Amino acid sequence: MITPTDYLEHTGPPLGTLPPRTAPDGLPALDLGGCWGFSWSADSTDLPEGFEAGRGEAAATIDVPSHWQLQGWGRPQYTNSQYPFPLDVPHVPFENEVGSYRRLFEVPQAWRSSGRVLLRFEGVDSTAVVWVNGVQLGLLVGSRLTHEFDVTEHLKAGENLIAVRVHQWSASSYIEDQDQWWLSGIFREVSLRHLPTGVPSDVRVDTDWADGAGSITVTADVPGRFEISELGFTGELGEPVTIQGVLPWSAESPQLYDVTVYGPSGAVHVRTGFRSVSVSDGVFRVNGARTVLRGVNRHDFHPLRGRALTRQDMLDDVLAIKRANLNALRTSHYPPPPYLLQLCDQYGLYVIDECDLETHGFIDVDPEGNPVDDPRWTQALVSRMGSMVTRDRNHPCIVMWSLGNEADTGFNLAAMAAWTKSADPSRPIQYECDRETAYTDVWSQMYTPHQELAAIAQRAEPALPDLAQDARRRAKPYLLCEYGHAMGNGPGGLLEYRDLIESSQRCAGAFVWELIDQGLTTTDAAGNTIVGYGGDLGEVLHSGNFCCDGLLFADRSPSPGMAQVAAVNAPIRLAFGTDSIVISSAYDHTGTANLSYRWTLTDNGIEVDAGELPVPVLGPGDQADVRFPEIPRGADSGELVFTVSVQLAAEAAWAPAGHEIAFAQHVVSAGPARVQLRSPAVAATVFQQDGPDRDSSLERIVSVGPARIDRYTGMLVELGGVTLAGPRLELWRAPTDNDRGPDEATAVASAWSRLGLHRLTHRLTHLDVTGPAVTAVIRTAAAHRRDAVVTTYRWSSDGQQALCEITVEPVGDWTVPVGRIGWVLEQPPEHDTVAWYGGGPGEAYSDSRAASRLGRYESAVPSLHTPYARPQENGQRLDVRWAQVGPLRITGDRPFGLTVSPYSRRQLAETAHNAALRPEDRLFCHIDLAQHGLGSASCGPGPLPEDVLLLTPQTFTLAMEVAP
Ligand code: GAL
Repeated sequence: MITPTDYLEHTGPPLGTLPPRTAPDGLPALDLGGCWGFSWSADSTDLPEGFEAGRGEAAATIDVPSHWQLQGWGRPQYTNSQYPFPLDVPHVPFENEVGSYRRLFEVPQAWRSSGRVLLRFEGVDSTAVVWVNGVQLGLLVGSRLTHEFDVTEHLKAGENLIAVRVHQWSASSYIEDQDQWWLSGIFREVSLRHLPTGVPSDVRVDTDWADGAGSITVTADVPGRFEISELGFTGELGEPVTIQGVLPWSAESPQLYDVTVYGPSGAVHVRTGFRSVSVSDGVFRVNGARTVLRGVNRHDFHPLRGRALTRQDMLDDVLAIKRANLNALRTSHYPPPPYLLQLCDQYGLYVIDECDLETHGFIDVDPEGNPVDDPRWTQALVSRMGSMVTRDRNHPCIVMWSLGNEADTGFNLAAMAAWTKSADPSRPIQYECDRETAYTDVWSQMYTPHQELAAIAQRAEPALPDLAQDARRRAKPYLLCEYGHAMGNGPGGLLEYRDLIESSQRCAGAFVWELIDQGLTTTDAAGNTIVGYGGDLGEVLHSGNFCCDGLLFADRSPSPGMAQVAAVNAPIRLAFGTDSIVISSAYDHTGTANLSYRWTLTDNGIEVDAGELPVPVLGPGDQADVRFPEIPRGADSGELVFTVSVQLAAEAAWAPAGHEIAFAQHVVSAGPARVQLRSPAVAATVFQQDGPDRDSSLERIVSVGPARIDRYTGMLVELGGVTLAGPRLELWRAPTDNDRGPDEATAVASAWSRLGLHRLTHRLTHLDVTGPAVTAVIRTAAAHRRDAVVTTYRWSSDGQQALCEITVEPVGDWTVPVGRIGWVLEQPPEHDTVAWYGGGPGEAYSDSRAASRLGRYESAVPSLHTPYARPQENGQRLDVRWAQVGPLRITGDRPFGLTVSPYSRRQLAETAHNAALRPEDRLFCHIDLAQHGLGSASCGPGPLPEDVLLLTPQTFTLAMEVAP
């Protein structure tokens, strides 16, 4: 009998459960999901008496699967690495929520009369005691692991009672310290499984593939044979065989075969794929070919359901990943529901299947007591690996096993690796904290800066002190199991990572952190429905918005980072020469027969010609040199841009025909200068009024064509009848999560605050009206600082447009990067539509611009805003030639960054949640010559040197007019 005082401190493997098995398809199952009786206790000393035996009424009902904290009991808590209870291993406090679950069920008569009946749990967080008909079956430990009990002997005719008592914290919580919400309960499927006598119930399918031949060994818990009818092949269980003419499985071509496995009394099925995975000559290979993992880390997450996902949620994730040109996912940081792996087999994604293990808090505090280096935990940890590997081993999609995440190193990890190697020598083992690769097959790190990666790619990293260890590690492939931290606006620098990874066969690939913002839907004090992050649910200890770092927002809509990832990982690359394009394939396994290449020619963004580019089918890694079509260049041509869009020629399982997988553009000719006076300049006029109706405010105004300039500030107040304010020099942006970084002391956003960039003031030092021009010189500086910027604005006009020639001169010490170099022009709020010719359709920054393409776009102002969970700088369109904001047309003599927003930068910086933003009484139109790069310093390196923005002298000419 397990008593409450001992089992919460249990550091061993589960108790009373069956050894793990590899379940085939086709055996009868009964889903026990639905409405269960439920009783909740705030602490583990207060449990309902006799609940497990059916005594008393259940206080309430709850949906299974779900987390009780998302159904009205207790509260979720988000921490990155901190333990939500004292470090007092293996003890937990009695302030420990308990959910007591029970329900009645019936079992078909036939199930009870022959064979065995198993009770199966796919996920219960964190530990649970289970009873059937009042008989205690055992203890579940391992929140994201599958557990089965044999309940055959405990079942009766008619109604049976199942009861499960789940505790929020247990000793296992010490080894489940992943960066995620702490959420409890029966959150994955519960089912009954019937295992009829004489029918295989544990079936292992091992395959390999080389040179057109597949080999396969099928073993089962009963004697028999197997058949692959598609190949017309039959074999004996337990006997390895080789089959000629078999198509291999890869993420690019996920060929699956149905294996029917016959036992003495019936048959089951396994979907298999023939493929090999290997590390040879220090290179990671699939089917013998060097393969680059273009991956993303994926947590199970839904903003309302937490980690209790529907099948549709999982399908949505897989399709989003495939459509973003990614080919891999890491199941950070625990085995996923089995259905996800079925989808990866079917749609084609390489998977690193990761064990449910993380002890991050020990790394942060001190290693004392870390379970990975403590013999009390050895069995539990090895059994966790056994549970995952045994459940998932038949999936061809799994190309590596991961021992876990951020648990430091210890002998238990080596034991987990040794067990795994003996159970499945076919797959490499990955684990990031094995820094010397003592027990892993790939050297794996997180957030490695580009420069360091460049050395590693060449196997030229600094040597380890122990030369034998160094030689061993240097011979291994290198994997970035996390990079490109997608928190808020970013990540920047992905293209450079891609080029480094592709430059060397040592690099096995990289996985962006992470797929989905882990934000929970909740409300703030003002009643706004918000994407909640740490601290929004009343937690005393939390990690703020560090959980919102996905390529998808919490509602699974794509963030701009997703478009960037898709463009960077495009499997077809196009490089333009003078009259031809070199088209190369980055596929590792398949040809390009399913692609079409559509070209268009635009003149100032308007399509003038289009066609299909005849490109031969390319094999993996091949390239072709294809001539451009003849491009007519008229004397009156504007900017001519040639665009090639590479699309799926026919529907694929994961995307419709026409889905774009790559694009590239080439400016054929730039066209005439865009900013110039169209007729002779008109004279500037200073208002001078006399007499009784004299309007003293007008005396402040000087007019240059349609522009009215305030003689006291040197800035526009009106243009062509439209009220304006600006252009006002801006050097600050609303800090992004990457600007804020993990450490306030060193963050670039803190440097901006110290410099006072968010509180610049302006002083007109000089205003000169000479003939057709008005020249205003404005000194911009922050309180208590001497450093300044002197900007000269020279206004002229042809009567219709106003031209402003600007020069910017920094004065003093400007060695710290600035957020932006640009101007804000405040406009009436009713200017709610923007049209532009430039980069789009989505936002882009200097180091995340791969998805931005030149074209003509139009958008309502609210749609230009990107709803990052915590507001920050966003929404810039790059390379803008001209923009029309309401009726105001703005043209630059060189392309500029355009950000039009109903929110001031200050509001963005000071507001905690997107839904709490309120449009202001004006529109903020930012015209930027440059912004600081994004980088990914929220967890990783900042912008590359070429994207660091230093204030230097600038010249720029703007033309403005109210469209006729
Ligand atoms: C890694 C960790 C992830 C996540 C990420 C930052 O160190 O493995 O779980 O915390 O950093 O978001």
